[in-house]
Amino acid sequence: MSPKPILVTCGLPYANGPCHIGHLRTYVPADIFVRSLRKMGEDVLFVCGSDAHGTPIVVNAESQGIAPTELVARYHDHFDNVFRGMEIEFDHFGSTDGEVNHHRTQEIVKALMEGGHVYPKVIELAYCPHCERFLPDRYVEGICPYCGVAARGDECDQGCGRHLEPGEIKEAVCKVCGGKAEYREQTHYFFSLSKFQDFLLEYLETLGGTASARNYAAEWVRQELKDWCITRNMNWGVKFPGREGLVVYVWVDAPIGYIAFTEEWCNAHGARWEDYWKGDSSIIHFIGGDIVYHHCIFWPAMLKGAGYSLPTAVVASGMLKIDDKKFSKSRGYVVWVEDDYLEKGLDPDLLRYYLSSYTSHTKEVNFAWRIFAEKVNSELVGALGNFLNRAFTFTVKNFGGKVPDGEIDPEVIARIEQAVIEAEANLREYEFKKAADGIMSLADYGNTYFQGHEPWKLIKSDLDAAGSAVRSSLQVGKALIILMQPFMPGVMEKAWGQLGLDGTAAASRFSDATVPLEPGHEMGRPKILFKRMEEETIAELEAIFQKRISEAESREGKCKEEKMETIPYEDFMAIDLRVGEIAAAEGIKGSEKLLKLTVDIGEEKRQIVAGIAKDYSPADLVGIQVIVVANLEPAKLFGVESQGMLLAADVDGKALLLHPEKRVEPGTRVR
Ligand code: 2FM
Ligand code: ZN
Repeated sequence: MSPKPILVTCGLPYANGPCHIGHLRTYVPADIFVRSLRKMGEDVLFVCGSDAHGTPIVVNAESQGIAPTELVARYHDHFDNVFRGMEIEFDHFGSTDGEVNHHRTQEIVKALMEGGHVYPKVIELAYCPHCERFLPDRYVEGICPYCGVAARGDECDQGCGRHLEPGEIKEAVCKVCGGKAEYREQTHYFFSLSKFQDFLLEYLETLGGTASARNYAAEWVRQELKDWCITRNMNWGVKFPGREGLVVYVWVDAPIGYIAFTEEWCNAHGARWEDYWKGDSSIIHFIGGDIVYHHCIFWPAMLKGAGYSLPTAVVASGMLKIDDKKFSKSRGYVVWVEDDYLEKGLDPDLLRYYLSSYTSHTKEVNFAWRIFAEKVNSELVGALGNFLNRAFTFTVKNFGGKVPDGEIDPEVIARIEQAVIEAEANLREYEFKKAADGIMSLADYGNTYFQGHEPWKLIKSDLDAAGSAVRSSLQVGKALIILMQPFMPGVMEKAWGQLGLDGTAAASRFSDATVPLEPGHEMGRPKILFKRMEEETIAELEAIFQKRISEAESREGKCKEEKMETIPYEDFMAIDLRVGEIAAAEGIKGSEKLLKLTVDIGEEKRQIVAGIAKDYSPADLVGIQVIVVANLEPAKLFGVESQGMLLAADVDGKALLLHPEKRVEPGTRVR
């Protein structure tokens, strides 16, 4: 046991979309870790929260016509609920848009400025002359200066994967209007990350957690560290102290959320947040493998510069594949935790077990419903559930539901002790799969022990020996429940009830695994703990998944069909679009499709030939307002001159004329 308080955090999910099982790859093991440490007697605080800032959230909210606060509140609640549903029990789940985080971020930025770690610099930034604004991060797209591949705002996500500093992107295009951006100068603020190189190299040698995180980070630090621009032109975010119109970059206030959430919990529980962030503590961050740079380089440098405690360990999880394919929301390779799992009535414990025992924490997990079902049926139903149920029902049937007399086999106690030692060591080392496998091998041992001792035979010849075999088996059962509780808290609590012990499985320590079950102790009623996954259910779950993929494929096909070459903004602005009012309309002799219209466009009346005769009768058209392309070269159709064109939606070959929402002066310009 460590005398220090331990803080465990999880990477903050962006409040920008629903939770998928890729997220759980980090949160489930972190929750198992915290539950396990508590079972080893450690003093642990477990915090997380939603990441509320950054341009993708603003862009998404804008596209839905809602305020960022509304979007963020929606997904904050969503994650909070899904985490509860998955039995991921944070002591506190905050938001980076909370008051405490705004305050703490400003304090840290001010401390960095006072310490001489932040400096202003004039840089050239993408600016959209049409939208009249600078274009931070996701507001801009262009070409990566390093690899020449199409990139978005702050990240070359299709090419070399590099983080792009503001202004670095080439051939910038505004994401809002699609127009060509220009580059304009503005003063921004930079964090002197490069000055922290020596500190980081030394610090990373001592950093705990997964070796891959530490090694990658050390390699990046050895290569080159660039100073980070920590300000953005936006309103949504934490205001940069002392400069109107700028907020701090989301990667500044997001990790500071870890401190703010600790403060919020401490404030509510009469504790001191400084014990975690200014004193002698252990700080352990669980994160996805894609944000190692931020947690092992940027974050410790910031903490060091501002005078806070440093992370003790960074535990980075491997990625997730779905059906052996790269996870992709747009291609349908995704499993949503709420819709596809919890709402289908599936037990959270099964998925917790799958994710933590599939492979080691740093490797890639492949999720597929068929493998899921196989694991449930063979490991949980066939081995663990079978053993517990067998030992429990045998006791009920043959010993009146009471733990029998008879010595607990010393070999069994030794085997349990060994399992506890191994589990503790593996869990402290973030080896969740090894820990789960070790516990499952104790279940196999239990099955073999019970089978080998044949208590159903002994009971007829040697009651004492039968009692000893059954009591020993029940002791293995107790140990299994205690050891498996961090992985499957719901089912193991039920099993604890069947064992009829006081208290809860959650509150028991690993060391309780060898505390003997007293003879005569009355058990609860045994019930099946894990149900077999039937073929029908698997087929149903697979069908939902397959449908999503084929829908995504046809969407992609359609997009490709409809996608046209982009045109420069200037080209679009060269089209003279006007509101016109139809003054007269008549058919054209010999044509079934064309109508000859007289359209008032303010300064003049135009004769326009339109292919709408099948969809509109001339009488219905007179007096209505339409949109006219006024500078189209005149052309002759059916021998009649047309001096413009009307805009219409093409609905499966039927024309639907476009109108202004309200009546306006004929000739009004359309942009
Ligand atoms: O990558 C992400 O999903 C970020 N929202 C993680 C932030 S973790 C931390 F630094 F706050
Ligand atoms: Zn690149």
